[in-house]
Amino acid sequence: MKILIIGGGGREHALAWKVRQSPLVDEIFCAPGNAGTSGIAKNVSISAGDINGLLQFAKETGVDLTIVGPELPLVNGIVDRFKESGLKIFGADKRAAVLEGSKSFTKDFCVKYNIPTAEYETFTQMEPAIEYIKTKGAPIVVKADGLAAGKGVIVAQSIDEACQAVTNIMERRAFGDAGAKVIVEEFLTGQEASYIVFSDGENILPLASSQDHKQVNDGDRGPNTGGMGAYSPTPVITKGIEERVIREIIRPTIDGMKAQGRLFTGILYAGLMISGDDIKLLEYNVRFGDPETQPLMIRMKSDIVPVMLACVDGTLGGAEFQWEEKVAVCVVIASGGYPGNYQRGFEINGIDEADAKDDVVVFHAGTMYKDGLVVTNGGRVLGVTALGDDIRSAIANAYEAVNLIHFANAYFRKDIGKRTP
Ligand code: AMP
Ligand code: GLY
Repeated sequence: MKILIIGGGGREHALAWKVRQSPLVDEIFCAPGNAGTSGIAKNVSISAGDINGLLQFAKETGVDLTIVGPELPLVNGIVDRFKESGLKIFGADKRAAVLEGSKSFTKDFCVKYNIPTAEYETFTQMEPAIEYIKTKGAPIVVKADGLAAGKGVIVAQSIDEACQAVTNIMERRAFGDAGAKVIVEEFLTGQEASYIVFSDGENILPLASSQDHKQVNDGDRGPNTGGMGAYSPTPVITKGIEERVIREIIRPTIDGMKAQGRLFTGILYAGLMISGDDIKLLEYNVRFGDPETQPLMIRMKSDIVPVMLACVDGTLGGAEFQWEEKVAVCVVIASGGYPGNYQRGFEINGIDEADAKDDVVVFHAGTMYKDGLVVTNGGRVLGVTALGDDIRSAIANAYEAVNLIHFANAYFRKDIGKRTP
């Protein structure tokens, strides 16, 4: 088979690495990919947002299965376009991707189907939003309704900060049309965890549990990022919690979407807040997590390609995954300054030494080749991912490898995985 993977981050390198191991696969293309994917796939310089370009490439090349990494093309209907042309593509179609594309849709959906989520109100005008914030008090959470490249959520510590967030989103349109509506939401506390399932619209197949580290600094301080590290499995999601997540959140979502004529196929990623017995849905994503995918892929023993095909064909019932018993930890090495401004183009040394270590895979994110050298080309640069017999040894293996890698202004958190009991 010929496989096309759309995207160019750590998630896509991890997917390409996993797909490469499938005996069903002859050739992999990544659009646009990064320096890491170029070693195992053919990079094609078409951006993930260029649906017409991707469709034309897939048709001309005879791609048998396309796998979509990021949310933007899903929300913009890439799956619908490929299907209209008779091409197989793994991901949610436009009507289903609204679970990530519109936070207000998802919040209303949760109420309708009794899915536990933070108390909220949706606003299309600034004044009532500000009034509501003043009656509720801080801390409080303000969210732009639409996609905002991971920046549309403001966890405000004061009423002033929350009001400023509303002004930024609605008046200054900091995230464009994504700010036509805002959601103001109750601030939840607890442990966040990621629970990700495959679905063919009716059946589900869960992945192992994982946990991300969103804030840029140690001790979960500083601004939110796309994720500075992740590990799998997470003890936060016990067997009992997992059963409840499926029964109270995932199942009613898949069934509710079907009832609304929005058959959900692809990846459904539930961002959860867990506090004792209390489980709440923070958000849905309709794609794999980044960096959660990196530890998940090195732990997955089964072939992922037949599972993706089963989702596309509606035949997922009965499928199972085998998992490596070991724990996996991924430490993201970022460009200093991220998630704010940062520089690109610095030479990276030590990747091969780190990658050669037992039970270590260095997944690339923002990297590219320049004059034969691997250089930095993004905020999150590498995801150094390691297995260990337990979380402590996985952490030790990951950081030993991290310490072999050097580039100017490199930054990473020192406490990935340390939150575990
Ligand atoms: P989201 O894009 O909805 O996942 O939000 C990004 C991050 O903001 C989450 O991963 C949480 O860390 C935080 N967050 C979102 N909603 C809430 C909430 N209601 N209470 C506390 N933190 C939240
Ligand atoms: N790691 C969080 C996300 O992929 O949204």
